[in-house]
Amino acid sequence: MTKTNLIEKAKKVLNNNKKDKGFTIPCEGLYPFQWNWDSGFIAIGFAHYDETNAKREVEALLSAQWENGFIPHIIFHNDSDTYFPGPDFHLSKLHPLASKTHRTTGMTQPPVLGFVLKELYDIVDNKAEMLSFIKQNIDKVFRNHKHFYTHRDPNQEGLVYIYHNWESGTDNSPIWDDIWDTMNPPEYKFERRDTTHVDAAQRPSNREYDYYLHLIEIAKEHNYDDGKIAELSPFLVQDPLFNAMLIKSNAALIELYRIIGGSEDKIETLNKWQTNAIARFNEKLFNKRLGAYVHYDLRNEKQIEFLSSSSFAPIFAGIPSNERAITIVKTMMDKFGGDDKYLCASFDPESDRFNPRKYWRGPVWINLNWLLYKGLKLYDFNDEAKRVKEDSIALIERYGFYEYFDSRKDLDESVGYGGNNFSWSAALLLDLFKD
Ligand code: SER
Repeated sequence: MTKTNLIEKAKKVLNNNKKDKGFTIPCEGLYPFQWNWDSGFIAIGFAHYDETNAKREVEALLSAQWENGFIPHIIFHNDSDTYFPGPDFHLSKLHPLASKTHRTTGMTQPPVLGFVLKELYDIVDNKAEMLSFIKQNIDKVFRNHKHFYTHRDPNQEGLVYIYHNWESGTDNSPIWDDIWDTMNPPEYKFERRDTTHVDAAQRPSNREYDYYLHLIEIAKEHNYDDGKIAELSPFLVQDPLFNAMLIKSNAALIELYRIIGGSEDKIETLNKWQTNAIARFNEKLFNKRLGAYVHYDLRNEKQIEFLSSSSFAPIFAGIPSNERAITIVKTMMDKFGGDDKYLCASFDPESDRFNPRKYWRGPVWINLNWLLYKGLKLYDFNDEAKRVKEDSIALIERYGFYEYFDSRKDLDESVGYGGNNFSWSAALLLDLFKD
């Protein structure tokens, strides 16, 4: 396919997934609502050819922000019987400050909005118009960050926790397996919908869903109260991907507030969060033996010593020193970057927990590739950045706009898995082509 055809196809994917209420679904059937971090990446894609849609995407997400600044992971703008668990399971209204206008989940996703606003500003030609849009919305994102640092950081150390694997974005990563071993949820009776759209071999197991539902039940028992969750949830993790995105978004807010002018107090607060966060991140989440960052299990007070694509994501936010960045990129290229592989597998290909077909247990994801590409460029690893970009484009060109891909090269079958016509694969391809 020529580059022009691919670009047209990508726009078609986004346009077809756009809904009348102003938001875009990740893909038909499998994900029929608005997802938080998906929307951020989708807005970046739209900004390249339809600024109005880019803004509407962000507005639709912020329209469901809770009164305490929290931005949920799914916004149920509409009804649908193709997805489980839906709004009646999540019951966000249990929280006294939940959105009164929208049904949502009571959990969040990696905080992309800050850096997304900055990307929109950088992409569009009409800076003045985009800046006026940013002015109307930037304080909402600031309040979201304030919520994180106030309610999700019980030790006040600069790192925020997630209480559910769905908050990480990397849903069924093998990283969580040892946490599941500390839990013993009941076997819930429920009907999976995802496996009616996608081969079950590419999705989490039923038993894994028991853990996922159980964590929500615990949070619901306490009306989604952050303090109670911090005290009681068996899953409490400081995630390097989540925190790196928050740090990148802090930096973007600082830059945008400087451009806008007149918010010295907010810049000062952001700088304070940022200094603490980066120092603590480097102290607590780096693992010397593995040569990269890892997750920290806050409930059981220990590092979770496995490599995943999240281990390299901190380069996106400029977190490591130059020297440490060299170590990280070497780890990534040695373990994930052999000639027989596409970059970047979501989990360590040398681990016995690696599964190249199963969602976040091994496949390549375009959004992680996008941020690794940006991070590699930030530190001038230009050859490696070029490789990540070329691998991403090759996968989509050869196999289609899939949700995730097998990292193994030269298989005699399609290596595109999960949902097809997937919005962020299309959106970020447009951005990679423009870069
Ligand atoms: N990605 C999750 C799912 O598969 C929810 O965020 O349903």
